[in-house]
Amino acid sequence: MYRAGQEEIDEVSKVILSKQWFRVGDPKSGHLQEVVLFEQEWAAKMGVTYALLMSGGGTAGLVCALAALGIGPGDEVIVPAYTWLATATSVLTVGAIPVLAEVDETLGLDPADFERKIGPKVKAVIPVHMSGRPANLEAIVAIARQRGIKVVEDSCQMDGGSYKGRRTGTWGDVGVFSFNYYKIISAGGEGGCLVTNDRQLYERATIYHDSGSAFRPQAGELQTPIFVAQQYRAGEVMGALARVQMKRMDGIIADLRRMRNTLAEAVSGRGGVWVAPSNDPAGDCGVMLTLQLKNEAQARAFAAQPGVGGFVLIDHGKHVYTNWEPLREKRISHHPDMNPFFFPKNQGLRADYSDTACPRTLEILRRTVYVAINPDWTDVEVKAKQKDLQAAAATL
Ligand SMILES: Cc1ncc(COP(=O)(O)O)c(C=O)c1O
Repeated sequence: MYRAGQEEIDEVSKVILSKQWFRVGDPKSGHLQEVVLFEQEWAAKMGVTYALLMSGGGTAGLVCALAALGIGPGDEVIVPAYTWLATATSVLTVGAIPVLAEVDETLGLDPADFERKIGPKVKAVIPVHMSGRPANLEAIVAIARQRGIKVVEDSCQMDGGSYKGRRTGTWGDVGVFSFNYYKIISAGGEGGCLVTNDRQLYERATIYHDSGSAFRPQAGELQTPIFVAQQYRAGEVMGALARVQMKRMDGIIADLRRMRNTLAEAVSGRGGVWVAPSNDPAGDCGVMLTLQLKNEAQARAFAAQPGVGGFVLIDHGKHVYTNWEPLREKRISHHPDMNPFFFPKNQGLRADYSDTACPRTLEILRRTVYVAINPDWTDVEVKAKQKDLQAAAATL
């Protein structure tokens, strides 16, 4: 989250004073409908029919998306080897097995490796848009459609970006956004949103996220039989914050992109540093200046120079699959009988998270550097960063 101010205070105050904080309520009695309005506004902004705000964040959104698609034991879901671990754990939460595929130089899922990894048990793929950089959706969605595989887009790190003129999160069957504290916008430190154009998927996700839809006023209108699941409902304070933050989003992204372009121009091609290829530089959110170098030694030397403020992606903690210890050690769920790795239906599915599973991803991460961008930097600060980056490149 980059920006917040009086508008957030004003809108949250109205909710607090209304004393109607639950998402369901009667507008005639002063209920402000913040969650419902956010969902309508987000759906309109993304250009989709349905949106569902979640208190459980992007993680809950991914779980609801997979549950809506009916993914479960006996199914494999392809996920990239470079992503926040929730992409993979959401697959396990619904009882299926995540199968790793390589990322390419853009840091998005490599369409060729995705295609290579397709086997008879693969039911879905989750392309992820890391640090506001779109995956190659055109190729991935085309392959998936051809092979009858569902697409869940993980746009958690890309609120409001686009790919080829269309918002990310809206290319697949279901898309998921995160509004946690570290994202482009936040709904109060946590929160997420699921979007889809498919009525049945929306209904199933709604039921899954709402304790069997016991509280929905329109539950009687659902065409899908209600089943019992989880409780990820958003409240009105979250809705109010999400609405104000949404209004800030395009301005934040415009500033991030402008700064990313300025810094990229200053450093690209100097001293063996280049800007990582993007599947759509115009739609990319510019959250990070993403630079690549010849090898790990050069990447480390560059990132450590004064003023660069960068880090090498192999150090990106739980975004790197080799750091997903619970998966590597098959420690899933609170009870051994609920561990999907041991479900009879999952025996023989591909659960390889070893160091050798995705060597190309690890090689790319070892020589890729992120430099974080702050959309509120002044011109003086941007100029200083430009100089620091150029000086760092000159040391190589
Ligand atoms: C790529 C990706 N997917 C999923 C998530 C999960 O989102 P949340 O923290 O809102 O549950 C995150 C959050 O960091 C993420 O970066």
